[in-house]
Amino acid sequence: MRVDHVGVAVRSIEEALGFYRDRLGLAVTHREEVAGQGVRVAFLARPGAGEGEAEVELLEPLGGGAVARFLEFRGPGLHHLAFRAVDIAGAMAGLKAAGLPALEDAPRPGARGRRVCFLHPRRAHGVLVELVG
Ligand code: CO
Repeated sequence: MRVDHVGVAVRSIEEALGFYRDRLGLAVTHREEVAGQGVRVAFLARPGAGEGEAEVELLEPLGGGAVARFLEFRGPGLHHLAFRAVDIAGAMAGLKAAGLPALEDAPRPGARGRRVCFLHPRRAHGVLVELVG
């Protein structure tokens, strides 16, 4: 699996773009509200980046939810590390068989119409891991 993106929890995407886009020179590749996860997201990549290049995902809470709680308790910062799985259901099954079940029983809708699941940090050396199908 390759790294798909790194998720960063922020209080305001617009404010965060002042750094990631305007200072680092990354380009916004996608914006979306993912209602099922209670967040608004913006993806950024190197300008001209091709398919398969790792991105940064800024996550801003819409209201309550896991990202809102993360910000409340820990403040803005690194939130998750996402890997691209060619076969997400197969990857989930393999991890479950190894005693590493995902938080979900089945992949759920994520940004860009992709299917995603998450592994709790206690099962992944302190990092919330997202698999992206
Ligand atoms: Co993500």
